Amino acid sequence: MERRAVCVLLWISCLFCCSVAHNDFFTSIGQMTDLLFTEKDLVTSLKDYIRAEESKLEQVKQWAEKLDTLTLTAAKDPEGFLGHPVNAFKLMKRLNTEWGDLENLVLKDMSERFISNLTIQRQHFPNEEDQTGAAKALLRLQDTYQLDTHSISTGNLPGVDLGGLPFLNTMTAEDCLELGKIAYSESDYYHTELWMVQALRQLDEGEESAVDAANVLDYLSYSVYQQGELEKALEYTRRLLRLDAGHQRANGNLKYFEFQLAKRREAQAEEGGKGKDGTERVKRETESKTVENDFLPEKRKYERLCRGDGLKMTPRRQSRMFCRYFDNNRHPRYLIGPVKQEDEWDRPNIVRFHDIISDGEIAKVKQLAKPRLRRATVHNPETGELTTAHYRVSKSAWLIEHEHPVVDRINQRIEDLTGLEIGTAEDLQVANYGVGGQYEPHYDFGRKDEPDAFEELGTGNRIATWLFYMSDVAAGGATVFTEVGAAVRPMKGTAVFWYNLFPSGEGDYSTRHAACPVLVGNKWVSNKWIHERGQEFRRRCSLQEMDRQSPVLPHLLHHLL
Ligand code: OGA
Ligand code: FE2
Repeated sequence: MERRAVCVLLWISCLFCCSVAHNDFFTSIGQMTDLLFTEKDLVTSLKDYIRAEESKLEQVKQWAEKLDTLTLTAAKDPEGFLGHPVNAFKLMKRLNTEWGDLENLVLKDMSERFISNLTIQRQHFPNEEDQTGAAKALLRLQDTYQLDTHSISTGNLPGVDLGGLPFLNTMTAEDCLELGKIAYSESDYYHTELWMVQALRQLDEGEESAVDAANVLDYLSYSVYQQGELEKALEYTRRLLRLDAGHQRANGNLKYFEFQLAKRREAQAEEGGKGKDGTERVKRETESKTVENDFLPEKRKYERLCRGDGLKMTPRRQSRMFCRYFDNNRHPRYLIGPVKQEDEWDRPNIVRFHDIISDGEIAKVKQLAKPRLRRATVHNPETGELTTAHYRVSKSAWLIEHEHPVVDRINQRIEDLTGLEIGTAEDLQVANYGVGGQYEPHYDFGRKDEPDAFEELGTGNRIATWLFYMSDVAAGGATVFTEVGAAVRPMKGTAVFWYNLFPSGEGDYSTRHAACPVLVGNKWVSNKWIHERGQEFRRRCSLQEMDRQSPVLPHLLHHLL
């Protein structure tokens, strides 16, 4: 039952934007691991080259030293020297062959092997687009998780224990300049300013660097000018000119900024001195906590939830959330060993199963999926085709029924615990999100106003979603429900389950959800999209009734775990 699952289209705004094709190395730890090993091999090859070059130079040196001594002595008494037949012979030999040999040695190219290794490996190197993509991912993470440039530059991210890391993960002034330049080339002056300021700060703090502060100031004055901050632009330009009085553009800008500022002040004076400095900073929206969730744009809600800054349930609502041992109505397979189940949310009802997939099973699932991981696609209703999109950045693969006993065991477990028919479900999807990997808000079910994405499957809409967490994530990577404000943190070995459709078959719009960008770490999940067909007599006694299962153990999760 090889079925391509089709992803339901999400952001309306994204319907019309085209996706950019690049390698997305940074989204795949697997691929990046290969690059790391390639780089390691290249270093070995480079060292071999250095050794060969050193040994060549050593031979040349020895020759020079030998000849130096010899010629010095010979020159003192040339006739006496050449009066000895052996010396005469050796001079002939040296000049006729040995200097020729030396010439060959000097001309010998020791770099051939290394250069050919490099040329071969280069074909698989990231390109300009990959570098830009990685930079943009970093800037996106900076926004989503509201990180300041200093924390990023010092590698001080949430979830990272700096003391425990054996490697450097800090940025040099040059790295900051590079990131700023990429933001600049995207006309993103907000981030250009942040990163140029950081570069400058590091230079001011005395960092050894080949970076020219004047160059940084040049970008900086332009980016603040672009954001309407004339006075600041002027200040940076003056500073630049103190470093490089002859800087042509800066001299031109100085006059221009002064002129603009004078004009602006004049206009203000006429208006009766409104505003303080006449500049209008294009500020990013900084929503206060008091803003009602409902009135925030979805993107803001999403980012806020990702930061763990979601809506809190009222204590009354919270008091109705339980955890329990669950045997799905005395299911024979779970009667003796019921599973631990916890309410994550009430409406929609999201439940989490603990210790529901073992480390061994996870390892097997990952092993089966790894060679097949491909950039995840979404269904574009415009063209009816599957395409990649910036709002779904992950790698995924499908594990089919009977390909391995573990897959069957997992499918059976989902069937037993949900009480739903699994034969009509899509194959088990395995997804890997690298740093910056995410899936922006979407519904798993197909909506009425869309061409029926699941028509060809003939199994109806996606009635429910089962999602295994196959890794912990050091920071970021939560599954968040943007309509209701729920955030579910990945916990290795657990799974969450929710219904996407009401019993009537209508889509439940409160299930809109997203996978937050991974900030630090690597996220593995696998999911099963369960379909309507076959559930006609099953849903009644399945998980929707779950709250009435017993025994109920309110607020005792830590005892269960
Ligand atoms: C999905 C999805 C959530 C997650 O793949 O449809 O919503 O946390 N995933 O990975
Ligand atoms: Fe989803």
